[in-house]
Amino acid sequence: MTFKGKTVFITGASRGIGRELAVAFAEAGANLFITYNRTAPEDTLARLSALDADVEAVQLDVADSTAAADAVRKCAERFGTVDVLINNAGVTKDGLLMRMKDEDWDAVMDTNLKGTFNMVKAAVKIMIKKRAGKIINIGSVIGSMGNAGQANYSASKAGLSGLTKSAARELAPRNIQVNLIAPGYISTDMTEALDDGTKNAILAMIPMKKLGTPRDVANAALFLASSASDYITGQEIHVNGGMYM
Ligand SMILES: NC(=O)c1ccc[n+]([C@@H]2O[C@H](COP(=O)([O-])OP(=O)(O)OC[C@H]3O[C@@H](n4cnc5c(N)ncnc54)[C@H](O)[C@@H]3O)[C@@H](O)[C@H]2O)c1
Repeated sequence: MTFKGKTVFITGASRGIGRELAVAFAEAGANLFITYNRTAPEDTLARLSALDADVEAVQLDVADSTAAADAVRKCAERFGTVDVLINNAGVTKDGLLMRMKDEDWDAVMDTNLKGTFNMVKAAVKIMIKKRAGKIINIGSVIGSMGNAGQANYSASKAGLSGLTKSAARELAPRNIQVNLIAPGYISTDMTEALDDGTKNAILAMIPMKKLGTPRDVANAALFLASSASDYITGQEIHVNGGMYM
């Protein structure tokens, strides 16, 4: 699969799944426009530079609609367009719902759901003009299954399913495909920090008896961003070792 000459915009690429998405698309020859929220993505940039990728990295809080539109404009100025948008930025602020603070509900909704809406709204202006584009939203198995202590996260990711399907229907006549990848438990800084008891409880729920890797998610994204998936829109691909079917 080659993405030579294509521009891929990835939110939240400083670490974890976002970093691997950037590396996978760089290996496939894409120009990359990546965003980070707080810390400059030194590690991602070092890996991309080793691949000779053409990269621009900007700070962006996706919850800020003006900043989201500005970032898309900057990407178009730098690379001429946006071919693929991957909405990967996401946060958790877990807690039992009885005790969940309003600000923890709002923060998760603002980044995961409204942030994706902001990005899609900004990028489709470019994609509609050229009647082509691929949008990939990163959801979660928790959006389908729910999880005690993650009412805000689960609701935000379930909301992404509705957003994905509505956007897919609206944009299908313009030749823009919108799909969602729902990862299960993926080995990242977040899951590495879990204690052994929690890790074992998670493994017990996964028929394949192992966590996924960021590359497993990136491989699904490469497919959904490529012309091999041109007739696929409004779908959810679960990358979860069989945890949810
Ligand atoms: N790791 C998993 O097991 C797993 C499972 C299911 C879904 N996911 C989803 O995959 C995506 C990436 O997860 P990860 O594990 O790599 O997480 P991570 O915490 O390692 O990375 C999240 C990225 O999002 C960025 N971000 C956070 N808030 C932001 C904001 N307001 N604006 C812009 N960027 C922001 C962070 O800077 C970081 O780069 C998330 O959407 C997450 O919900 C992860």
